[in-house]
Amino acid sequence: MLHGKHILVGITGGIAAYKVCTLVRDLKKAGADVKVVMTEAATRFVTPLTYSALSGNPVLSGLWALDQSTRSDIGTRHVDLANWADVYVIAPASANTIAKLTYGLTDNLLTIIALASRGPIALAPTMDADMYVNPVTQQNITKLRERGYFIIPPEEGEHASGLRGPGRLPEIDTIVRQIEAILARTHLDLKAKSILVTAGPTYEAIDPVRFVGNRSSGKMGFALAHAAALRGADVTLIAGPVHLETPRNVHRIDVESAEQMHRAVLKHVRQADAVIMAAAVADYAPQSAASGKIKKKHGKDALPLRLISTPDVLGALGRKKNGRVLVGFALETENALRHATEKLKKKNLDLIVLNSLADKGAGFGGDTNVVTIIDRNGKAEKLPLMSKFDVANEILNRLTKLL
Ligand code: CTP
Repeated sequence: MLHGKHILVGITGGIAAYKVCTLVRDLKKAGADVKVVMTEAATRFVTPLTYSALSGNPVLSGLWALDQSTRSDIGTRHVDLANWADVYVIAPASANTIAKLTYGLTDNLLTIIALASRGPIALAPTMDADMYVNPVTQQNITKLRERGYFIIPPEEGEHASGLRGPGRLPEIDTIVRQIEAILARTHLDLKAKSILVTAGPTYEAIDPVRFVGNRSSGKMGFALAHAAALRGADVTLIAGPVHLETPRNVHRIDVESAEQMHRAVLKHVRQADAVIMAAAVADYAPQSAASGKIKKKHGKDALPLRLISTPDVLGALGRKKNGRVLVGFALETENALRHATEKLKKKNLDLIVLNSLADKGAGFGGDTNVVTIIDRNGKAEKLPLMSKFDVANEILNRLTKLL
C-alpha cells in the first residue's frame, strides 16, 4: 500500500516531534518516498539533519526554506510539494498550527503547503490535555474535520508536563494504519469527471419568519462531495440550509427552497457526468408564502396551511438522462426494499441508496449510517454500520463503474 507513495510529513513544535523519527523511518522502510517539512519551532526539538538522514531527502523548514534565492523555482516550491504529495501528514499538529490552518494563516512553509494542497491532509493534534480540551481548539478541529481534513485522534495518558488526559501522539503504528486507510480511499479514479451533489433539507416559507422543513443535517451529501473531490472529481455541491463547513476543493452553492434547488440543479447539470441527489427535498410547500409575518390567531382552525407539491428534481433528470449516471436516496419505513426499487425504476435511476431509520447508528444528524445500495438489476447490498465518509466511498465505488 505504501510502496512508491509520496508522503509529505509536516512537523510542528512539540516534544512529540522526536517520536515522528520512527514514523519517517517506518514509512521509508515500507517503500514510501518521504519528504519532511518542519516549522521553525519543530527544529528546536529535533534537528532537520535527523529527519534528512531518516527520509533520505533534504528537509524543508522556514518560509525561505531553500535559502537559495538564485533558484528560479523558489516562488513555486510550495505548490510543487503540495502536488507531489499523495498524502500530507502533519504530526505532531500543535494547537497553534491547527489554529493557523483553521483561519488560513500562512506564515511558514508547512501551512502554505496545506493551503495550496488539493490532496488529502491528515492531522494528529498533539498538545497538553488542557490545550486539547479547550473549546477553541475543539472548535478549530471540528471546522477542519468538516472541511475534509482527516483527524487522527490523540491518545489519553501522561504528558511531558505531568498532566494526564487526551492530547498524546498516537502510537506510530496507528498513524501508519491511518495513512494507509486514507490512501486506499483517495485513488484518483474520478479525475476529469464532473459530479453534482445535493445535500441537506429544503425550507419552504410560510411567511418571512416560519417555514416547513425537515431534520436532514446534510452530512451524508457533504461526505459524498468531500469523498468525490478527494478522488479527483470536479464537484459542485448544492446545499440546502445546513450548518456545515464546505469540504476542500468543492464548489458550493447555497439554496433554501425546493424550487431554488431545482433551478440550481438545472443550471449546473449540463456538464455533470453524474448527479447524486442526497438532499431531503421537501415534497410539499405552502401554496403561497405570506409577505408579512402571520399574526397569532386562536381556535381550532387558527392557521390552515394549504400545501402543494414541489417539483421532483430527480424525476425530471431521469426523464432527460443524456447518458448521465443518476443516484437517488430513499427513506422508507414499510416494505423498504420494494418501495426503494420502485422509486429507482420510476425515476429512471442507476442506483438508489436506502437509508435505514431502524438501525442503531443510522439516520439524521449522526456521523455514521447504515444503508442498502440497490442497482438497476434489483441487486441490493446492505452495508454494515460505517462512517458517512466510508458510505460515500462505497457509493462512489459503484458509481465509478457506471461512468
Ligand atoms: N427528490 C427530488 N425532488 C423532490 C423530492 C425528492 O429530487 N421534490 C429526490 C431526493 O433527493 C431523493 C429522492 O428523490 O434522492 C427521493 O425520492 P422521493 O420520491 O421524494 O422519496 P420520498 O420523499 O421518500 O417519497 P415518498 O414520500 O413517496 O416515499
